[in-house]
Amino acid sequence: MLPVLDLEEAASEHLLMHYTRNGAFGPGRKPVVVLERGEGPYVFDTHGQRYFDALSALFCSQLGYSYGEEMAASAASQMAKLPFATTWGFAHPAAVELAEKLSTLSPPGLDHVFFTSGGSESVESAWKLCRLYHAATGGEGRTKAIARRIAYHGSTLGALALTGVDGYKAPFGPPAIHVRHVSPTNRFRLAEEPRFAEAVDDDAAFARALLEEIEEVVLEEGPETIAMFIAEPVQNAGGCFVPPEGYWPGLRELADRYGFLVVADEVITAYGRLGEWFGSTRVGAQPDLITTAKGLTSAYAPMGAVFASDRVVAPLYEDPKRNLLHGLTFAGHPLCASIAVKNLEIFERDRIFENVRDLEGHLESRLRELLALPIVGDVRGAGFFWAVELVGDEQNRRLDAAEREQLLRGFLPGRLMQAGMIARPDDRGDAVVQVAPPLISSAAQLDEMVAGLEASLLEAAELMDLGTSARSAN
Ligand SMILES: Cc1ncc(COP(=O)(O)O)c(C=O)c1O
Repeated sequence: MLPVLDLEEAASEHLLMHYTRNGAFGPGRKPVVVLERGEGPYVFDTHGQRYFDALSALFCSQLGYSYGEEMAASAASQMAKLPFATTWGFAHPAAVELAEKLSTLSPPGLDHVFFTSGGSESVESAWKLCRLYHAATGGEGRTKAIARRIAYHGSTLGALALTGVDGYKAPFGPPAIHVRHVSPTNRFRLAEEPRFAEAVDDDAAFARALLEEIEEVVLEEGPETIAMFIAEPVQNAGGCFVPPEGYWPGLRELADRYGFLVVADEVITAYGRLGEWFGSTRVGAQPDLITTAKGLTSAYAPMGAVFASDRVVAPLYEDPKRNLLHGLTFAGHPLCASIAVKNLEIFERDRIFENVRDLEGHLESRLRELLALPIVGDVRGAGFFWAVELVGDEQNRRLDAAEREQLLRGFLPGRLMQAGMIARPDDRGDAVVQVAPPLISSAAQLDEMVAGLEASLLEAAELMDLGTSARSAN
């Protein structure tokens, strides 16, 4: 192995880091942090510095980092027996066992599983399954989708079209799918918009206002042209937008009225992130399809899965000549499937989701203490999935571009690491810091995380000249 400093230099020279300003790293610039080891909810860099992984490596490492040997044993026995087989016209035991197990855990009726290698592939597979369903049932004209602003659904071109972050799409030309974007369930900021201001404090009224907006878009585009609506049970980008009660049941009614399908993008919210197998269950969603990835294997291997309802797959079974016109060579890889099976077994055996449910209230109340800081305007989320919105004054002024640059890309990433944690300052929407700790984290570890966040945000407030006194507005 290369010595530590050579690793950092070689990384900046040869490793193109994703969604990263690569030019900010290298000799004379910032060193690349090279993570080489993990233990429990912690990761360690090549200098031996320990960080609490408060983002679960992009919402993936539900189990943290200490189950490697057990996962490796499953993978090794699979490797010795059958290292690879496809799910193209064949099956293999690991994929079958996993699909069968998942069908017992998924919401009722969603018991058909299409494997993928990750989240973007899951989203695009769901789109194709929707299109195939409509094409087979007289809906050839249903070529459009509705998604939500700021939502991230992936980076490949189809998934990117569904993504509601304009800056991510601008360089890549016209979108691959015709998509209309509607408001996310952002109670905090929609309070400033005339259309929603009166509604945000009342769940039923807020849900109604959001659903009316969707219905308007359906009618504008023509109901017979809409193939699907896609949204996360709790939207990540923008900062953990929890839906008002009644939103997802209302979506179901709209979909049934106008004939489009509902896709719950659970690439983050499935597999315990919200304390349940699926976030859909928690928010009262009854989707036709669910997309997942990340936590399916706790990221011990790359894998995703799409769940489809009996209705969506019926055309694929009723005509023996109908082809499921979509496939991915590595999807359902036996190695990944054997690891996923083990991962699901560990979730149940070690009562991982019970830990989330037991500690959610504690985490929430500790994070809400941050509302006393002058720079914190809102704290929102569910389960082990939270965002803290940063503001410029007691009236919750939005941070401007220069302030976001200074805070979110300049000061905070390094300061949080100095506090011994990896969290995510983000401004795809308004300025937030996101935390989504591994689901195995203890109360003491969560406290340690909140303390690191508090110290960093206090200094951030000083930097922004907001002072250090407690807010009175909250
Ligand atoms: C909700 C959601 N959908 C899709 C994706 C894309 O997943 P991947 O990066 O595995 O392609 C992500 C990634 O973060 C996501 O959060």
